[in-house]
Amino acid sequence: RPRVFSGIQPTADSFHLGNYLGALREWVVMQEDHETFYCVVDLHAITVAQDPELLRQRTRLSAAQLLAVGIDPDRSTLFVQSHVAEHAQLSWVLECQTGFGEAGRMTQFKDKSARQEAEHVGVGLFTYPALMAADILLYQADQVPVGEDQRQHLELTRNLAQRFNARFGRTFRVPSAHIPKETAKIYDLQDPTSKMSKSIPAGVVELLEDPKRSAKKIRSAVTDTGREIHYDPENKPGVSNLLVIYSALTGRSIADLESAYEGRGYGDLKKELGQVMLEFVTPFQEKVRGYLDDPAELDKILRRGAEHAREIAASTLRTVYDRIGFLPPA
Ligand code: TYM
Repeated sequence: RPRVFSGIQPTADSFHLGNYLGALREWVVMQEDHETFYCVVDLHAITVAQDPELLRQRTRLSAAQLLAVGIDPDRSTLFVQSHVAEHAQLSWVLECQTGFGEAGRMTQFKDKSARQEAEHVGVGLFTYPALMAADILLYQADQVPVGEDQRQHLELTRNLAQRFNARFGRTFRVPSAHIPKETAKIYDLQDPTSKMSKSIPAGVVELLEDPKRSAKKIRSAVTDTGREIHYDPENKPGVSNLLVIYSALTGRSIADLESAYEGRGYGDLKKELGQVMLEFVTPFQEKVRGYLDDPAELDKILRRGAEHAREIAASTLRTVYDRIGFLPPA
């Protein structure tokens, strides 16, 4: 079975609809016929300042949300990045293979560093993609399910794998990005030309918020002044985004939704999408509460995941150290 690796940062109080539709939904599906490794990437989280207690809480909460969306710990290896030391170790090696200019071209680095005062931009933000490459390459992953915003990081990962293989002999499998067609980029409800992300709260639908609040955000989503409910991302980005979300959550095609809403207004679409959201998050939130009520069980799942992950990671790292010319410990 082909290998899959992906990760998510524990940097918010809740995952949002972009995380779910762009990535997590695929994670769940891929469990069926792939060998899947899913990781809460706390090392990545500290590339920007984090409160220690909050980080710990959000790491547990992230694991609980992954289980609640349907990650099955009997089929997937679910673990926390800092529990497997090899991630940081391989990251160092890959940093030494990464060009300064190459890392500087990463648009996510440019965006994130532009938003912060220069003296608060840590070196970790810059080397972030080498750590991400280490995550993926340690497990010899074939496929990496992510949203569109991670495409460039995946490209760098492939380049690093190929460069290392060319220089030191075949060591890493070269992974491919697995990016969903329809939901690769979910847009912000208040600014439907930029991606939904934690930075603009009013436009972000959180999976753990009160569904009444989500319904309200959807009702006040920015749409154009026209009346027709048509999928037209160019001229009607707001309505198109709502249609994509609606379609993904219900399995109804966009064409089907367009004909169902013919002659009806945006208000109807928004109201009914709020209801769809409510039906989706209610059982999800209940499951999250269940996992949080039993932290011992949650920790056990994560411990088991880390043990399995460590075996594979250690074997890859041993090969890498050997290829590089490190003297084996006696
Ligand atoms: P993160 O934590 O920002 O996001 C987790 C996943 O959600 C996707 N995503 C979206 N998809 C569609 N529309 C959106 N608006 C949207 N917002 C987020 C992201 O593409 C991602 O798949 N660097 C990664 C974490 C990471 C990783 C890895 C991923 C670390 N190591 C190894 C894959 C493999 C990140 O910050 O994702």
